[in-house]
Amino acid sequence: MTVVDLGYAPGAWTEVAVEYTKPNGRVIGVDILPTVPPTGASTFQGNFLSENVQLSVKRFLASADRGRSQKHFMGGHGYFEAEREKEGGRGGIGHKNVGKDTVNVVLSDMCEPWPLGVGQWASGVKQPYLRLMNVSGLRLRDHVHSMDLCVSALLFSIDVLKPGGDFVCKYYSGGFDKELEAGLKMAFEKVTRDKPDSSRPESREAFFVAKTKKSSVTKEQVLAAMPNLV
Ligand SMILES: C[S@@+](CC[C@H](N)C(=O)[O-])C[C@H]1O[C@@H](n2cnc3c(N)ncnc32)[C@H](O)[C@@H]1O
Repeated sequence: MTVVDLGYAPGAWTEVAVEYTKPNGRVIGVDILPTVPPTGASTFQGNFLSENVQLSVKRFLASADRGRSQKHFMGGHGYFEAEREKEGGRGGIGHKNVGKDTVNVVLSDMCEPWPLGVGQWASGVKQPYLRLMNVSGLRLRDHVHSMDLCVSALLFSIDVLKPGGDFVCKYYSGGFDKELEAGLKMAFEKVTRDKPDSSRPESREAFFVAKTKKSSVTKEQVLAAMPNLV
């Protein structure tokens, strides 16, 4: 299996995914923060909202062997196929299809990191660091940011998930999450909302769990289902 974990840092979900995908699967994490990658995962540092970052992840996904613990570079592939993947995906048909249908599960726990200021580690280490928190405390702002991140993760999933693949995203509830739900329902057979026990009851965070990507769904259909979010 291939799992993509968006907003993976510090890495608890990734560690679990690595366990589930052993021994031949791969887990690819993306985070805007620089962190040490959890053992067994491949990671990218960058803003997932950037098209270039998404393209780098898709290029990585397009090489079926990259990121696996048992690497067989070019095993089962010819030289020319490997070269075409580097240039733009299967069949060398440009960026559009890079990494298409390569992933079983996309997870997104992304929430906007808000800088609080520069400080020093409480342990006394004299290195400056950017202190971050995961919500601004302003409901509308947190909601709108989380919708941006969820929509971006959903559109990426339409590209890379195999038919039958699954998607999970965290969101902060508010006026637009019904539209996000409509987009998810367009793309997946079964969509549920979840508020696990580990999530504080007073927090507006919750999760969408979307199972079984439809084989015939297009991005245009999903975009049309959530006109105010795009
Ligand atoms: C709640 S934490 C994730 C915790 C993680 N699931 C775990 O199990 O350790 C949310 C993460 O999303 C990341 N994030 C937020 N916005 C992002 C973006 N635009 N691109 C990439 N990562 C982002 C943050 O840097 C943060 O590390």
